[in-house]
Amino acid sequence: MTEKVQAIRGMHDILPDRTPAWQRLEAEVRRVMGAYGYGEIRLPIVEKTELFQRSIGEVTDIVEKEMYTFADRNGDSLTLRPEGTAGCLRACLEHGLLHNQVLRLWYGGPMFRHERPQKGRYRQFHQIGVEAYGMPGPDIDAEVILLSRRLWSALNLAGRLELQLNSLGTLEERLAYRAELVDYFGRYRALLDPDSLRRLETNPLRILDSKNPDLAALIADAPAFSDFLGDESRRHFDGLRERLELAGLAYVLNPRLVRGLDYYCKTVFEWVTTELGAQGTVCAGGRYDGLIEQLGGRGSAAIGFALGVERLIEMLDDGAAGLDVAAPHVYLIQVGESAERHGGVLAERLRDALPHLQLVANCGAGSFKSQFKRADRSGAALALILGEDEARVGLIGVKPLRGGGDQTTVEQSVLPQYLRDFFRF
Ligand code: HAM
Repeated sequence: MTEKVQAIRGMHDILPDRTPAWQRLEAEVRRVMGAYGYGEIRLPIVEKTELFQRSIGEVTDIVEKEMYTFADRNGDSLTLRPEGTAGCLRACLEHGLLHNQVLRLWYGGPMFRHERPQKGRYRQFHQIGVEAYGMPGPDIDAEVILLSRRLWSALNLAGRLELQLNSLGTLEERLAYRAELVDYFGRYRALLDPDSLRRLETNPLRILDSKNPDLAALIADAPAFSDFLGDESRRHFDGLRERLELAGLAYVLNPRLVRGLDYYCKTVFEWVTTELGAQGTVCAGGRYDGLIEQLGGRGSAAIGFALGVERLIEMLDDGAAGLDVAAPHVYLIQVGESAERHGGVLAERLRDALPHLQLVANCGAGSFKSQFKRADRSGAALALILGEDEARVGLIGVKPLRGGGDQTTVEQSVLPQYLRDFFRF
């Protein structure tokens, strides 16, 4: 037998039984974004490699080892986007959207990282991201965090996610802290694992992020960044905390929250859950004021976040989130050749009369019994039953498939009204 072609490891099909959850999430996202005045932007999936090198940072895991980079036919180095922040800013700069303006945007779609696949970590995954430009104060930091909270409540996830917060200060403050960390961890070189030794040279803040339990005590005793925060950074952070408290949003201060991308400054945050095992961060973001200039633009205020759609969907599936099932309203059983011809016309007429009706008409013939089984399996609430006799005299059988109820016969001419009443369209 010919061998089948398989999907790429870590890249998943989303099958029809899963798409209702995705659609529900997307619908809530659209609604909540509208409620805060964020406009949607759609961006290319491929960008010049340089964009990510210059924004995410040369010595981050993403740029060092996770990007899908390839040479275009003309030799340009291109990369499948590993995240959306860089592309969004590139687009705004390219189209001059940031000139003396504030801008609130959101986007969604697939991202690509060549990570080791495991539950909650994929090579193609989906993010929904939010970016807000031109607003330097903590008010917008609070807004994007409150927006994310509203999403969780819209998805019935309130109470299942914890907000962790930290401030990374300004670049100068971070450099001073970095020097202190190099000094501190340098004294304990012998205890460091190869990854941390490497990071000591390249990106010492990331050592704080290490999941190696042998390093936990050493990390816990490391100098705290809060001692290096300047007045402005501290005021900004306090301003955010005050606004979150006013909004009744509880948070946990996590001084070890450093994030895996280089562009952050001041506020960083993550929404985490203990329900998903190792990959418990469902949403993460922060301020990245320096990136606009770094990418050749003018202006210096930007904040955003991205949520991992697969991780959220996993939580929706696990909990009693009340997901819609991909079930039609009615299944039309049509037994016999002339009933099938008649049924086809009837189905079109019903769809004309009731634009919200979801009707699956049996195709591929079959006995009454086998069609009835398909009707049941479809999850439809009602079966419409059309035999040769009914077709001839303009009648149709109606049988509720959920929660009992007898079969009745109604005239086809009143069927639209019958269905309208039944489903309350
Ligand atoms: P990030 O922390 O790299 O941030 O990713 C954000 C979220 O995407 C993560 O919290 C996680 O839920 C999801 N995610 C990341 N990698 C994977 C993966 N391999 N498989 C499944 N889900 C994943 C960013 O990407 C920033 N661009 C966020 C941002 C926007 N900051 C400012 N604006």
